[in-house]
Amino acid sequence: MAEPLEYRVLRMLSHLEYRSGEALARALGVTRATVWNAIRSAQRHGVAIDGIRGSGYRLADPIVWLDAAAINAALGPLAAGFRIRVADEVDSTSSRLLASEGADAPGTVLVAERQRAGRGRAGRPWHSAPGGSLTFSVLWRFAGGAASLGGASLAVAVALIRALNGLGIPGVQVKWPNDIVHRGRKLAGILIELRGDALGPTDAVIGVGINVSLPQGTREAIDQPAVDLRALAGAVDRNRLLAAVLREFHAVLARFEAEGFRALREEWDRHHAYRGREVELYLPSGERVGGHVQDVGPAGELILRTAAGARSFVSGELRLRPAPPEVAA
Ligand code: BTN
Repeated sequence: MAEPLEYRVLRMLSHLEYRSGEALARALGVTRATVWNAIRSAQRHGVAIDGIRGSGYRLADPIVWLDAAAINAALGPLAAGFRIRVADEVDSTSSRLLASEGADAPGTVLVAERQRAGRGRAGRPWHSAPGGSLTFSVLWRFAGGAASLGGASLAVAVALIRALNGLGIPGVQVKWPNDIVHRGRKLAGILIELRGDALGPTDAVIGVGINVSLPQGTREAIDQPAVDLRALAGAVDRNRLLAAVLREFHAVLARFEAEGFRALREEWDRHHAYRGREVELYLPSGERVGGHVQDVGPAGELILRTAAGARSFVSGELRLRPAPPEVAA
């Protein structure tokens, strides 16, 4: 895959010193105007670049670029089980793997600096920025049919929590079914899409987006409170982060396959953001159900105590119920 000029320019910039447009143009064999256009385009995509007339350009923040060799090195012996592909730009890493129609082997990981059309759950867009996000998808083959995958997205959430805790990032929780949040603000999202046979084996494309160091513009585009790893733990090396997540996928998904979500349920519940809270659940049908969050079931279903008794749900969007207004004495 040819490297777009924008990324060739970006990789030549550092946050420590300015490089002139002329030096960049000379090194790349293009005109200064072409360099200027590449810088403008990167800024539009959310990369913070300082420009000073007469001095040139500098990254406002350090960026460790995604690098397959660094990811493999951090994976160590587990690297043999994955095939890491790094792209500068794709429409969506998940769409790419879903469209590859068997051309990619299970264990393929596609990670991209930028997604032109990143997809979230419920048809929403997923916003990210080059250098400031980790967006990747993994093609995972589950031996059983689709019916055995109840709770798979909650299992993936357990893997993410373990990886984040392992990197020294505490206090992360799961908002059912699989939003990774910190004090109610979204840190990461998971989207699982299935490919192929209903009876099995089933290929799942597991897409994960993690906010690492979001520029202001990207943060403003997100339609809910969001947080990034920089605010929680300072600078994070995305190559090491990806390797840590893949390592946990390996351990957690093997357990999930062997024993189902019930084996991970207790661990999931320890990180349950809304346990015991009053919520409203917005169902895909448009119906809204109010209740008290009781538990999650053995297949990852949400159990709500409602006016009509305990009810379980397999999908929906949770929101906390606003506290009732205080009554004046
Ligand atoms: C959510 O809405 O919480 C799920 C977000 C999933 C985003 C990731 S980013 C990598 C992969 N590619 C996509 O287009 N979406 C997923």
